[in-house]
Amino acid sequence: MNLRNGQPKSKDGIDLYSAKDFEGMHAAGRVAADILDEIVTSVFPGQNTGILDSIIEQLIEDKNVDSATIGYRGYKHASCISVNHVVCHGIPSEKILKEGDIVNVDVTALKNGWHGDTSRTFKVGNVSVKAEKLIKATYESMMEAIEIVKDGIHLGDIGSTIQTYVEKEGFSVVQDFCGHGIGETFHKEPNVLHYGEKGSGEKIKTGMISTIEPMINQGTKHCKTLKDGWTVETKDGRNSAQWEHTIAVTKNGAEILTKRNEEF
Ligand code: MF3
Ligand code: CO
Ligand code: CO
Repeated sequence: MNLRNGQPKSKDGIDLYSAKDFEGMHAAGRVAADILDEIVTSVFPGQNTGILDSIIEQLIEDKNVDSATIGYRGYKHASCISVNHVVCHGIPSEKILKEGDIVNVDVTALKNGWHGDTSRTFKVGNVSVKAEKLIKATYESMMEAIEIVKDGIHLGDIGSTIQTYVEKEGFSVVQDFCGHGIGETFHKEPNVLHYGEKGSGEKIKTGMISTIEPMINQGTKHCKTLKDGWTVETKDGRNSAQWEHTIAVTKNGAEILTKRNEEF
């Protein structure tokens, strides 16, 4: 829950942030995105996900920021690493990446009180055409949704854009997890669903900050959480991909706060 005093809110009760707040969020977002760029050469067949996580933890330390995930509801790692049929919240472990895997790495940095939350799906060596198509459709659906964001549209327009895009490609949208408001708090209102009806849900206003982070499955949308309390897998064991950006709504539309080098 957000308890900041005097935080302006939209008519629908969503926190609105100032230009100065945007600057803080930009800095936090940049750090998280830089980490995803800096680990590119650390994702390869034979790499172990625990080592990949320690590399991320070290990068966070080198940048003098904090990991928002370490200590979050008892989570102990600097990243979530979700391989193949793992949808999200994969726990770094002894698991070794192999040629053909697809792996999502999700990092949230906390800098000067602001959260930058971003993830991408990497290809481990060469992957199948099918996996390639899933990764690309997931990314493109997120970017299409980001492009339509502007003052006055509805949250349902985001969900509808993503769902329409990926279903046309024959994939399904995970409904058990969603994007979220973010700022001085890691997860806050509103919930940003990656499916839904155009024109439904709260209105987006200039000053809002949230993530968009579609999880898209090759087969069924249904998921299950493992006994470890974190790892989420597809019910049918088929692949799932995810990308995540943190965005701020300006009067000129969405500004991506977690752009990676290749996105400038
Ligand atoms: N970064 C994830 C998100 O996009 C949340 C991870 S919470 C953790 O919202 F505790 F699993 F790390
Ligand atoms: Co997020
Ligand atoms: Co994230």
